[in-house]
Amino acid sequence: MAFARTCSVALVGVDGVIVEVQADLEPGVAAFTLVGLPDKALSEARDRVRAALVNSGEVWPQRKLTVGLSPASVPKSGSGFDLAVACAVLAAAERLDPSSIADLLIIGELGLDGRVRPVRGILPSVLAAADAGYQRVVVAEQTAAEASLVPGVTVIGVRSLRQLIAVLTGAPEPDEPPDPISGRPDPLMAGLMLPTAGVRGLPDDRAARLDLADVAGQYEARRALEIAAAGGHHLYLKGPPGAGKTMLAERLPALLPPLTQKEALEVTAVHSVAGLLPAGRPLIGCAPYCAPHHSTTMPAIVGGGSGLPRPGAVSLAHRGVLFLDEAPEFPVRVLDALRQPLESGEVVIARSAGSLRLPARFLLCLAANPCPCGRYSRRGEGCECTPAMVSRYQGRLSGPLLDRVDLQVQVAPVTRVELMERDTTAESTTTVAARVLAARERAAARLAHTPWRTNAEVPGHELRTRWQLGPNALNDAARQLERGLLTARGLDRVLRVAWTVADLAGRDRPDQRDVRTALVLRTGVEQGLPLVERSSGRFGSGPVPQTGAKSDQLLRADPSAVTPDQRPSDKEI
Ligand SMILES: Nc1ncnc2c1ncn2[C@@H]1O[C@H](COP(=O)(O)OP(=O)(O)OP(=O)(O)O)[C@@H](O)[C@H]1O
Ligand SMILES: [Mg+2]
Repeated sequence: MAFARTCSVALVGVDGVIVEVQADLEPGVAAFTLVGLPDKALSEARDRVRAALVNSGEVWPQRKLTVGLSPASVPKSGSGFDLAVACAVLAAAERLDPSSIADLLIIGELGLDGRVRPVRGILPSVLAAADAGYQRVVVAEQTAAEASLVPGVTVIGVRSLRQLIAVLTGAPEPDEPPDPISGRPDPLMAGLMLPTAGVRGLPDDRAARLDLADVAGQYEARRALEIAAAGGHHLYLKGPPGAGKTMLAERLPALLPPLTQKEALEVTAVHSVAGLLPAGRPLIGCAPYCAPHHSTTMPAIVGGGSGLPRPGAVSLAHRGVLFLDEAPEFPVRVLDALRQPLESGEVVIARSAGSLRLPARFLLCLAANPCPCGRYSRRGEGCECTPAMVSRYQGRLSGPLLDRVDLQVQVAPVTRVELMERDTTAESTTTVAARVLAARERAAARLAHTPWRTNAEVPGHELRTRWQLGPNALNDAARQLERGLLTARGLDRVLRVAWTVADLAGRDRPDQRDVRTALVLRTGVEQGLPLVERSSGRFGSGPVPQTGAKSDQLLRADPSAVTPDQRPSDKEI
């Protein structure tokens, strides 16, 4: 019997599925058939494997060869099966002992010269192998460090097919020619770094150098940044050009707590599938940052593309920050596509072979100018935009999207004095991040026996009924609700933020001040110029009238809350 089998991995989204690679040689006219739902890149494996084998000094079996990949129902794409196919063929031809590869899991593309090239998605592939009980995996040398992140698996990193044959047969390892590209960027890795169409991740080292203390003034925005990081609240920064919105957003990821081991593996797996893992530092341990340009295409934002689907910006920002600068410039359908991941923490991509899910639980940070020219103000000084242009521009961010953004802050231009004078009291990222971590721990302890980890995730009715607020805490919110300045959904957002403000202050439950702070941060309107007049109802919750009975129901957690009280003031932040 001229039959051999080994294993490899197919990627479905960021999940690996074990695939058995079988090779069968029969007497007959020389032919090579590949079966098992291969895509185009995989079909080309026939030519690559044949050339690699011959160029590695082996003899190609001149018989009827059938290679099957099973389960046949799983769509398989890419070139990562090459090395496994070559080994199965060699074992079927009795050049290798079939038992030497039967319990191996082999992943790698073959060059025509027999060199083993790295492929995307090594981490999720090896995780799947470990789950399936495989103890030894073979990968390209360049991805061995990434594969080694998975505990309990012995990783064999190989440079060429010849080297792997030597390892499997116990022969002395060949003297591989010196790597002509050592010391320079590896062109073998270059194939992985496909153009990312404007998707930009801030490398960890650059993020580490950006300190919050560099931001002059902007006390409200800095406070909003801290609250966003502590509670996982989405954030919208509105303000004129040059006020420091981008500067602030770039400093947000460093405020987030370091990733847990499980989160780090999740994030690394996404970047591995995207082919964006930083060389030499395979495990991503801190929150990623992704800031796609507004010209970025839909597949680059949500993920997809032909062949092995590539995670989009929403997935590259998983467990980190997705920053949409000049948010109204993004196509409306791209902005609307964010609603699904904001709701569910994952994005579902429909494909002809079935739909696949990619993780996408990110903190959304939006930034916008008040109008296309950026100079719009209530007084209209210097602004060249017509009222229609201004309202069209501001209306591009839909109500349903903004309903999910708990914090909406006006960023006023920084003053000359603030800019020129060195503010020695400005808090550093380290100081603020420590407070954020403490607040997150406080929230996690409170939410210990619930499915949620941060305040932003807690559904409104749970917030209103499960945890008691401080006495009279809701007075201001109740008054706004009565007057139709706050909707039920708006109240939920206020409560979520109020809990985070209390967590940051080390209080057991929000008091009146915390709720006032949350009210001010709800729309940013009280802080400065409204982007849209309230009557339009597009921004914030709008003045939807509420009946007294309705507000009573909403506030039944604290029946005393309907006493009128003073309106929130700017000084509360
Ligand atoms: N608060 C600030 N403190 C220190 N520097 C600032 C501040 N605001 C702006 N700057 C300076 O101005 C530059 C531009 O700021 P930034 O790009 O963040 O503004 P922006 O609000 O994003 O503007 P735009 O709307 O044009 O994108 C910064 O690189 C920084 O040098
Ligand atoms: Mg900017």
